[in-house]
Amino acid sequence: MNKLKIGIIGLGTVGSGVYKTLKNFDNVEIIKIAVKNLNKKRSVEVPSSMLTDNPYEIVNDPSIDVVVELIGGVEPAYSYLETAIKNGKHIVTANKELLAKRGEEIFNLAEKYNRVILYEAAIAGGIPIIMPVKTILAGNKINKIHAILNGTTNYILTKMDTEGASYEAVLKEAQELGYAETDPTGDVEGFDAAYKITTLATIAFKKKIKFENVYREGITKIRKEDMKEANEFGYKIKLIATASIDENDNADVRVHPMLISKDTTLAHIDYVTNAVELNGFPIGKVVLSGPGAGEFPTASSVVGDILAIAAEFGKSDYILPMMRCNHSTKANPVKIEDTYNKYYISITAPNAIGIIAKIGTICANKNISLSSILQRGVSKDNTADIIVITEKCQEKLLREAVEELKDCTVNSIIRVAD
Ligand code: HSE
Repeated sequence: MNKLKIGIIGLGTVGSGVYKTLKNFDNVEIIKIAVKNLNKKRSVEVPSSMLTDNPYEIVNDPSIDVVVELIGGVEPAYSYLETAIKNGKHIVTANKELLAKRGEEIFNLAEKYNRVILYEAAIAGGIPIIMPVKTILAGNKINKIHAILNGTTNYILTKMDTEGASYEAVLKEAQELGYAETDPTGDVEGFDAAYKITTLATIAFKKKIKFENVYREGITKIRKEDMKEANEFGYKIKLIATASIDENDNADVRVHPMLISKDTTLAHIDYVTNAVELNGFPIGKVVLSGPGAGEFPTASSVVGDILAIAAEFGKSDYILPMMRCNHSTKANPVKIEDTYNKYYISITAPNAIGIIAKIGTICANKNISLSSILQRGVSKDNTADIIVITEKCQEKLLREAVEELKDCTVNSIIRVAD
């Protein structure tokens, strides 16, 4: 049998899972694996003759057909892949940051050299989403995505919800258990989810979306009090990656915490599970959920991509045409200030006559209609906690209204899903 020969760059958690899983397939042969430290103790036993600490030994090796990149980050990963493509290799990658920031360049280069780049593992780990969108859902016009694309933040928010704990306490516990990184910025500030929604929206809408135009807010300001109030109003708080596009190609793509109704599927996606809800015609709504990270779930996607290449390699001059990415038109970015949303606002106000009336007047003057307003008595320090939920209004006007609430402390403003 003519085996597909692969080289892997990176033997961390995902690389180890790929190595262990690929051993079950005799149509694929691992030729070489590049690691940072040749002497490091690993969870897999790999023959030392297979290891190198120089990734260029892989991307320049004429016997290798496919380069599997599992190191993450833009550089040096981009340079390795650029050389690999120019040397005629197909690519499998799990690198969401590289795709979000330099996807257009790398896909154009791959097309020029007639090579394919597959990246199922980069978006929502083990959930099959790229191949379904590119193939069996290709007949749809997808116009809206709502997704939970980051397991770390979903774990933290779930724990805050179920245990009534603060963000800081849950983060600390998650770090001790190894669920959150020592530097959690990439996850908790929403970068990871923003990378993923950039690429997912690009392929689902078939329009170029620029990472710089994706609005992003993390979960660090969510308070346990917000969780409790959200629950009482019939919502959960989740870090939602959303994207929508209208008939004029105006694309609104963002990542931020949201109150979402307990009646929706996404509200019940808990802990490290990810989920993607796609809306389009003719499918209507479809939700895919599953493990968004981890050694074997991510390996499942990487190995699936490798086997897809293996199935066509040597049999066609233009393999996997439906998986190629060559959109020529750009979406028009919509600024967050111009978007229309419902808002949850937590306010602490002095206990004075006319405060609720004042909040109502300020909102009315900005054309903001209120859906709910709640005060449960007065605190011992003579202040009152007030929760306001608005109807849909323009973000710019909402911000102006909040500016005018000078006498009050605005504890939180969180957007509410429709
Ligand atoms: N750090 C990500 C998460 C997984 O917490 O979901 C890899 O993208």
